[in-house]
Amino acid sequence: MSSLYFNLLATLLWLKIFTESTAIFLRKVTGLGFPRATLPESGALVSKSVVITGANRGVGLETAKAFARLGATVMMIIPRTNGSISPHLLLLLYTQVILGCRDLTAGQAALEEIKGCTEEPKYHRNLHLHRLDLASFTSIGAFARQVRQTLQQVNNGGPPQLHYLINNAGVMMTAEERTEDGLELQFGANYLGPFLLTHLLLDLLKAGHDQARIVNLSSISHNAGLMAFDNLNLVGGAYTPLKAYAQSKLATVLWSRQLAKRLPIEQVTVYSVHPGIVQTELYARSVNRFARLCRRLAGPLAFTTAEQGAQTTLYCALEPALAAESGHYYK
Ligand SMILES: NC(=O)c1ccc[n+]([C@@H]2O[C@H](COP(=O)([O-])OP(=O)(O)OC[C@H]3O[C@@H](n4cnc5c(N)ncnc54)[C@H](OP(=O)(O)O)[C@@H]3O)[C@@H](O)[C@H]2O)c1
Repeated sequence: MSSLYFNLLATLLWLKIFTESTAIFLRKVTGLGFPRATLPESGALVSKSVVITGANRGVGLETAKAFARLGATVMMIIPRTNGSISPHLLLLLYTQVILGCRDLTAGQAALEEIKGCTEEPKYHRNLHLHRLDLASFTSIGAFARQVRQTLQQVNNGGPPQLHYLINNAGVMMTAEERTEDGLELQFGANYLGPFLLTHLLLDLLKAGHDQARIVNLSSISHNAGLMAFDNLNLVGGAYTPLKAYAQSKLATVLWSRQLAKRLPIEQVTVYSVHPGIVQTELYARSVNRFARLCRRLAGPLAFTTAEQGAQTTLYCALEPALAAESGHYYK
């Protein structure tokens, strides 16, 4: 019965994806364009810090670039009273962008790409890269400690504060694999890993006077999700790549709602996001042939770019009007 129900949900999901791709296609051919997040004025991100996971490519890289550019623009508007610019003041005003990447070589290449689009060499010291494998609790613990140390250093030994946590990294429809801790890979890396990371960083998010924000990347696929509470690792033949992906993304939506209920809205808000149908490596790395084929054949026409895909994340992180909302799902 439950497998029949899942097949029905999966069919509805593919129809939703088809509808969304058709809408993207129509926007492209009619030149209608795509909605963009309104980024804050220069100076709005004074002394802020952001952690972005999976920032070495795709939606995460574009999100990191946007934050880096915001930090870079800040420095242009901070004159001293005599008209000169204080280097000390400048250092404090930059946005600290911390990238969490599984592969440091790919992370370093992304860092160089981000530097290339900020153009201000002094700003580059405020980009930080640390290793993070969300499929390993040990790695998550080490990353959280490094984030804490980095933020303490940039705060001159003062209490570290984090203003934005973007849980972006994810895998989709992989072969049946286990994390280092023996969990089903997609449930582990897409949901339990970000869950642990968030809780390890929660005190830093609560530490500031301003509201901090957590953005969790979910997916339209959560619509086909069923929580197998008696078999979360989908063992004993229950595993299919889509079932595991959809479950991990449904867990992300449910957790975001629950976390929002537990956190005072004036301290921390939480959002879950579907970034759209985005032309990234996510599909290329999936074992689902149909998804790979769709990306190859329809990607250029009916998928958005990674930069367009990052807009919903940026909207949830930076839109002032969302300060009074927490726990909702945005697409
Ligand atoms: N693209 C879409 O159409 C779409 C639709 C719905 C939702 N999403 C969601 O949006 C998010 C970003 O996806 P994307 O399209 O930008 O995918 P992508 O290009 O494949 O990027 C995924 C990122 O996550 C990282 N990652 C994967 N496993 C990791 C792990 N165990 N530890 C740390 N980092 C890990 C990857 O690092 P490596 O380079 O080391 O693999 C990469 O940086 C994902 O959560 C995805 O589920 C995407």
